[in-house]
Amino acid sequence: MDYPYRRETLYADSDVEVVRVTWPPRTHSFAHDHGNSSGLIRVLSGSVYHDVFDKGTLTPRGRSVFQAGECFLETPDISTSWGMTATKRR
Ligand SMILES: [Fe+2]
Repeated sequence: MDYPYRRETLYADSDVEVVRVTWPPRTHSFAHDHGNSSGLIRVLSGSVYHDVFDKGTLTPRGRSVFQAGECFLETPDISTSWGMTATKRR
């Protein structure tokens, strides 16, 4: 399956996976979840929007925008979609 972003696994063991995801301008993910896993996301550069939905019903909960240096948490009770806010790389 082709994805609109580049995903690099930096570390993985049976409990934890650390990945770096690079988004091209004007791209986004489809709504998805990560099962019973939680995730901590830190924006390394630029800014991203993060849409949150109720898991299962996909009822929207809201959108947040995060800038470089900011972190946010994804929990098992949500589905998310996110992507780049900028139109070109910084
Ligand atoms: Fe994800």
